[in-house]
Amino acid sequence: MDLIFEPLTQQGCMTYLIASAAEKQAWIIDPSLKEAERYEAMLKQRGLKLNAVIDTHAHADHLSAGPKLMDLTGCHYVMHSSARPKDVTDRVEDGSELSIGSIKLKFIHTPGHTEDSICILLNDKLLTGDTLFLDDGGAGRDDLPGGNPGDHFESLAKLSKMPDSLIVYPGHDYRGRRPSTLGEQKQRNPFFKPKTKDEYVHFLQELHLGPAEWMKKVLEANLACTRDPQSVAIPQGVSACETMGTLSDCAASQEIQYIDAQEMKKKMDAGWAPFLLDVRETPELTAELGHLPGITHISVKEIAHRLDEIASHKNDEIVSICKLGGRAKTAAQLMSEAGFSKVIVLTGGMTAWNEKGLPVVREALSK
Ligand SMILES: [Fe+2]
Repeated sequence: MDLIFEPLTQQGCMTYLIASAAEKQAWIIDPSLKEAERYEAMLKQRGLKLNAVIDTHAHADHLSAGPKLMDLTGCHYVMHSSARPKDVTDRVEDGSELSIGSIKLKFIHTPGHTEDSICILLNDKLLTGDTLFLDDGGAGRDDLPGGNPGDHFESLAKLSKMPDSLIVYPGHDYRGRRPSTLGEQKQRNPFFKPKTKDEYVHFLQELHLGPAEWMKKVLEANLACTRDPQSVAIPQGVSACETMGTLSDCAASQEIQYIDAQEMKKKMDAGWAPFLLDVRETPELTAELGHLPGITHISVKEIAHRLDEIASHKNDEIVSICKLGGRAKTAAQLMSEAGFSKVIVLTGGMTAWNEKGLPVVREALSK
């Protein structure tokens, strides 16, 4: 087999290695600046020459390693023709191809998340950048400079005409999901649900994305092609590029309530006793952030199938809790859709709770 294809990250910002074993040449897709030296060493160790870094778009959540790897290895830096990072060396258009030996990449221009977004077709694989994530991760947000929801709708329509059998490799995955087919995503991903451009734009407006001033600074640094990984302070563990994909038009139109950590603690001290539902993964409950005493735990991945276990709380106040608020919102929307009438999301999740110095426990839950 000539083709080497490997995700170089397991979750968060996804980076992919594509190489020809015969030609000993490689491309790296969407590498992060903080990993540049590590990637250079890895390539050297494997005897691969870096042909090019390809960025699927100008990123706003992490610094690109493209410019630095150009300096370190002499590789090309490839982006779409509309891309604004100043040191890009090679520009591709919709339908352009690049090849190394028998390995061929085909580029598809998919504006929306950004004007310069591209997807990359590699045999049976579709690297979707931030044009499409997996399942309720939805897709990249369209509210940053250069974003355009209407264009994103058209780009998703373009992808929806591609074969169901393609395997989707997204630019971000914040929950360790495994790759899935485009056919599955057409069924499961909420961003494929709106049928018209107006519906899509309305759907995005209803997601109420949080402010992201730091993301604009990251974008500026990427346009300037910084080589300094410390040039912008980037919050860790934030699913910033994701639009917190919601589940249906019905769910999206439900008004979700929020509560601040401090306010919640004050109310609980005064006797308020909501049903506390933590939707994180099991190892997170006993890790640094801990959990609140008295929680019920159902992971957001399982909540849709386990709602009957909490059916007796349908009319109770429920506080949905996760690490930062994203998964809790997804769970809250699912519950609202299923008729739970008073679901409240803990704003900023356990991160905010801990930042306020409020008490937590870290013992494993008793079965
Ligand atoms: Fe992005």
